[in-house]
Amino acid sequence: MKKRIVSGNRPTGKLHIGHYHGALKNWIELQDKYDCFFFVADWHALTTKYDETENLRSDIKEMVIDWMAMGLDPSKCTLYRQSDLPEVAELSLYFSMITPISWLERCPTYKEMLKEIDSKDISTHGFLGYPILQTADIVLYHGEFVPVGEDQLPHLELGREIVRRFNYFYGQYFSEPQAVLSQAKRVLGTDGRKMSKSYGNSIDLSDSPEKILKKIQMMITDPARIKRTDPGHPDVCLVYGLHKIYTVDRINEITKKCKAGEIGCVECKKLLAERVNESLTDFRVRRAEIEKNPEKVWEILKSGAEKVRPIAQKTLSEVRKRVRID
Ligand code: TRP
Ligand code: SF4
Repeated sequence: MKKRIVSGNRPTGKLHIGHYHGALKNWIELQDKYDCFFFVADWHALTTKYDETENLRSDIKEMVIDWMAMGLDPSKCTLYRQSDLPEVAELSLYFSMITPISWLERCPTYKEMLKEIDSKDISTHGFLGYPILQTADIVLYHGEFVPVGEDQLPHLELGREIVRRFNYFYGQYFSEPQAVLSQAKRVLGTDGRKMSKSYGNSIDLSDSPEKILKKIQMMITDPARIKRTDPGHPDVCLVYGLHKIYTVDRINEITKKCKAGEIGCVECKKLLAERVNESLTDFRVRRAEIEKNPEKVWEILKSGAEKVRPIAQKTLSEVRKRVRID
């Protein structure tokens, strides 16, 4: 019996290479070794985007197309949409009854986001309760492992505390899920900040080869290099940061040539663009294929939901019994 993994992503529309190296690549590797449940966290999207839902459906579709074109295979893993299983909302409700507000308020992601986002009011019940719903996402399907980035660890820890509290009140039922940290690579955006669509600094998986070349050409390199023969400092160069991911086999050569002033930044960038584009060759073919029949994406999500529904229903009937709402 394979161990079960549950993980989700908020629907962000088309994915960028930061999403790929941060999570998706890891998911694709895990799908062979585990019983993987990967879902689109559309209800979680509402925690911050409750007032802009007009693109929600297309964001879901585009993200799932990217997942599959990149290598998530619905015959190996289960893909579904969170909101197709309303059981998760009910489980989340029971958890919300037993979770002290102070646990939620001291969550670092919560505190940070409250400070960071000033364009809209996110001092809502739903946003505060984000980790509660996330916990329900996992234990509804008895997920044993949860691949997440480091930023999500507090949510996982909070989730384990909620599970303990549930078991304490209603008898041992849920096991505590464990985080598996991926050896994710942090990818910086073309301007040196964290790669993010909202910063306009992302290289998207679905960008054309020309667009990728253009974006890379715009990237900041070592400011100390003015002439081609000036010795460079690769460690301060964004292009070099991406070479470390995309040009592993020639990284020593690039380091040496940059430091010795034997390669120009223009040439170095061209090489990077070639490598990034090469890595996306199969993806492009597959994406074009799936795009011909995007309805298929919804069918896959629906059949994923039908597959996991019995598990969700069974968990809920057990939970209701324990809470005596049966
Ligand atoms: N919070 C996660 C993120 O922002 C998304 C998510 C929602 C999730 N529910 C989950 C991840 C359950 C793992 C397990 O990326
Ligand atoms: Fe960066 Fe390459 Fe220029 Fe060196 S040669 S500074 S690594 S772009």
